[in-house]
Amino acid sequence: MTVLTSDTTPSIELFVMTTYFSRLDVQLQEELKKTAEAILASGKGILAVDETNEGIGKLLKNVGLENTENNRRRYRELLFTTPDLAEHISAVILYDETVYQTTGDGTPFIELLNKLNIIPGIKVDKDVTALFLSEDEMTTQGLDDLGKRCAAYKKQGCRFAKWRCPVKIGLNTPSVRAINDTATILARYASICQSEGLVPIVEPDVLLDGDHDIERAQKVTEVVLAAVYKALNDHHVFLEGTLLKPNMVTPGQGCTKKSTPKKIAIATRTALLRGVPAAVPGIAFLSGGQTEEEATMNLNEINKVQGKKPWILTFSYGRALQASVWQTWAGKDENLVKAQKELLKRTKANGLASLGNYKAGTAISAAGDETNYSANYKY
Ligand code: 13P
Repeated sequence: MTVLTSDTTPSIELFVMTTYFSRLDVQLQEELKKTAEAILASGKGILAVDETNEGIGKLLKNVGLENTENNRRRYRELLFTTPDLAEHISAVILYDETVYQTTGDGTPFIELLNKLNIIPGIKVDKDVTALFLSEDEMTTQGLDDLGKRCAAYKKQGCRFAKWRCPVKIGLNTPSVRAINDTATILARYASICQSEGLVPIVEPDVLLDGDHDIERAQKVTEVVLAAVYKALNDHHVFLEGTLLKPNMVTPGQGCTKKSTPKKIAIATRTALLRGVPAAVPGIAFLSGGQTEEEATMNLNEINKVQGKKPWILTFSYGRALQASVWQTWAGKDENLVKAQKELLKRTKANGLASLGNYKAGTAISAAGDETNYSANYKY
């Protein structure tokens, strides 16, 4: 391939630059593809435990515990030492602190997960901040030192990353500015991750917040996905070495017109088909404030819905896997085994749902139908 230099005719350079790029090293492509495919192992999904220290602090407070490093560690140990966790969990998303923590007997969490054949990953966005002069919209931070951080996490044993960009539906939002900002940030993030050998999980999260109907949620999701994949392509992201973590298409939390899981499944599949290239190997949904059972039933219906679905469709849930665990554990050691059973119950239900084999109501959990929604939720 001829590399154009500055003494080349400028007009030709401009023209050729639009399509010439250096491809990702073939070995790196293979590594990323393999990792993405391993995360998508049949009947399995992702356990998202990447709450920030502030985010987990609220959950610890609810069970009467102080937000200390040891309490955060104890809770994560409970999760990772759940017997048979790997039956339906292929990967976990960690938070920075957790990457360096150990079990009570000194085994690094990452070593424990690797032994279980569970792939460790890491949240790398540095959370949201207001998008100045917008109608209550947000942007995300953390690109500046991302390459360095990815290299360090890779060295520690992480093999993938995630970055969440929330998108708000309002009367005049999302604005074109917020959509483009989301798309560009996710593309830069994905490109940097791949350069350091981490599979990027791309998470544009069209929020449940609002009273919009399902049709509006579908249209917004479609527009956002189209923008995100245009940007990913512009940044030469190797799609086979990525995963998508989107919202399901549901009516807003405040919408009075509720939708059945079937309707949600059809709207979700349609939006994904319109916006996500078939080269993307898999889609692992976030739960976004749905109840545990809703998140399972909707995933099940999405997998059952007839028609084209070129990707593996699974879960990457935080709240919808942990609500019953928190409630059952209640911060007490004597409840640990019972809490682990709750986790296993939900991972199994969602594992079945990822194959379209879940029977509604067969996994009765401690949190029951309790909502996991809270406005402007922060991890
Ligand atoms: P929820 O399933 O709680 O929406 O969490 C998704 C997420 O992004 C955590 O990594």
